[in-house]
Amino acid sequence: MRIQNEKTAVSYMIKLFQQIEEMRPTWDGWAPIEKCLSMAALVVAIRPKLVLEVGVFGGASFLPMAMAQKHNGIGQAVAVDPWSSAASIEGYDPVNAHFWGTINHDAVYKKFMDKVVETGTQNIVKVHRVKSDNFYPPDNLDIASLDGQHTDQAIRDVNRYASKIRVGGYCILDDLNWTGGFVLQSEARLRELGFVHLYPLGTGAVYQRIR
Ligand SMILES: C[S@@+](CC[C@H](N)C(=O)[O-])C[C@H]1O[C@@H](n2cnc3c(N)ncnc32)[C@H](O)[C@@H]1O
Repeated sequence: MRIQNEKTAVSYMIKLFQQIEEMRPTWDGWAPIEKCLSMAALVVAIRPKLVLEVGVFGGASFLPMAMAQKHNGIGQAVAVDPWSSAASIEGYDPVNAHFWGTINHDAVYKKFMDKVVETGTQNIVKVHRVKSDNFYPPDNLDIASLDGQHTDQAIRDVNRYASKIRVGGYCILDDLNWTGGFVLQSEARLRELGFVHLYPLGTGAVYQRIR
């Protein structure tokens, strides 16, 4: 009987990763499949009550975490993003400002909301369509992925959001080498807050709070 149950648990887990792999091409965003699977695996492993992402876009890095929470049968996933051209160009150089200024943020938001329904995570996901400065992060976050505006905003996001991650919890940063050096400065701040680097992930890395 025990072997039967173990087989069922394994097949559900394999199914989760297969679903993420199949759906990834339909999500707008930048997270490569390895990052999607790695973030889902982290959620499966630690069974978090509360995960949050700043800078969601089409959900490429957010949806895998929410799907893994659905698989776990526990937890909430909070999405914070204004989905607004004005916010996305704030503080950016002309090339990035042009890129972000031409994106139809309403369409990306609408498609993301459709994907929440398609992944069956609508009871898990709470969406806040606001700039990160205008959202008050809850205490005791288990995982926060900070991938919003890569200006001095990145440092503010670490100050306001990473400080709410419980000791033992995880913070994921992206685009560490983004032009301007603000994301690297935010990483330095993360270390001051008591986080250590665990492993690289795509163009970013995963950190754990040890104090
Ligand atoms: C690099 S994209 C996120 C990519 C996504 N995490 C992925 O892996 O595909 C940056 C996102 O930050 C959002 N953003 C811009 N300004 C923001 C702000 N002040 N607060 C929160 N999010 C912001 C943009 O709307 C955009 O969706």
